Amino acid sequence: MYSNRLRSLPPYLFAEIDQAKEKKISEGVDVIDFGVGDPDLPTPEHIVDRLDEAARNKENQGYPSYRGKEEFREAVSEWYKSNFNVDLDVEEEVISLIGSKEGIAHTPLAFVDPGEKTLVPDPSYPVYEIGTVLADGDPVSMPLKKENGFKPNLDKINRETAEEAKLMFLNYPNNPTAAVATGKYFKKVVDFAKKYDIIVCHDAAYSQITYDFDAPSFLEVDGAKDVGVEFHSLSKTYNMTGWRIGFAVGNKDVLDGIGKVKTNVDSGVFQAIQEAAIEALSGSQDCVKENVKTYKERRDLLVEGIKSLGLDVEKPKATFYIWAEVPEGTDSMSFSKKLLEEGGIVATPGSGFGEYGEGYLRFALTKDLDRIEEAVERMEEIEFE
Ligand SMILES: Cc1ncc(COP(=O)(O)O)c(C=O)c1O
Repeated sequence: MYSNRLRSLPPYLFAEIDQAKEKKISEGVDVIDFGVGDPDLPTPEHIVDRLDEAARNKENQGYPSYRGKEEFREAVSEWYKSNFNVDLDVEEEVISLIGSKEGIAHTPLAFVDPGEKTLVPDPSYPVYEIGTVLADGDPVSMPLKKENGFKPNLDKINRETAEEAKLMFLNYPNNPTAAVATGKYFKKVVDFAKKYDIIVCHDAAYSQITYDFDAPSFLEVDGAKDVGVEFHSLSKTYNMTGWRIGFAVGNKDVLDGIGKVKTNVDSGVFQAIQEAAIEALSGSQDCVKENVKTYKERRDLLVEGIKSLGLDVEKPKATFYIWAEVPEGTDSMSFSKKLLEEGGIVATPGSGFGEYGEGYLRFALTKDLDRIEEAVERMEEIEFE
């Protein structure tokens, strides 16, 4: 019944831990779930108010433009200038997305023919690989190793593979490893992409969730716009995961390709949501600062608990994830199950994000301080044999 394409999608590797969690809950255990990358904090009120008003405007109720309202693209361009000092042409270098996931998943359809390769970080957000497979492409993994700061070692990419690759996906600040990249690294990426004629798709969904650190945009680097685009999301920055709005910016021809797919499969973002997004991007950014402050307090508390479990962990400079290394002699799935069994705590096994995620657990900071404190107390009491 199902297409080969659908049948060749990678297996959903979190099913095992999801089931174990459901079982514990059904047994009446008070499970503390650090598995979910969905902010528990509400969308700031001024953004909700703007939607409320905009939804009542008849002019917003028809089909939107798939590229996004001009005012939305202007707001994106100004936001980019103020955050990254990057100039974007509002007509040609900005496109709205129904969440960045939508844009990422559709991108390979525009550029990858059956059998063609894409370069995908491992571990990673699964959509880079899935988008490639849905386009009948061939994802090739680029290992993210601790010794390389969880960045692909471009020198280790086989020359033939590089010559064949159409696209490279990157994501900094990174999910799941919480690693960050510098402009210097991005410059190497630009040189590599030019040498091998590869389109770079940089996913910057967590660019604003940073602690005493400014995450650079890929587009800050000279020549970046010649080779690629950057995906952004309002989901994490403004607690808007359910609203489904994001954007892509950068190389005009790449955006045209993505836009061509989109005109044929969707009809853009509800204009009232675009107006709310304008409010988010152009209004006071104090809500973002508040968010970051909250995640930072949570991070500092949870890291202590994780250390008490004997895991090797560093305080992340960005994202709302903690990437912790399990002790030698165990693996991420067994450790995750033990943590659930002994402490009623869920952390995502790194192996679910790819082969090179093995040996790690990901904790999402999407629970409040009281729950984290409870989790830390439980962690301090657990004694693994
Ligand atoms: C790295 C990364 N990119 C993109 C997304 C998707 O975000 P959006 O809600 O904009 O589709 C996520 C969501 O978890 C993510 O972790």
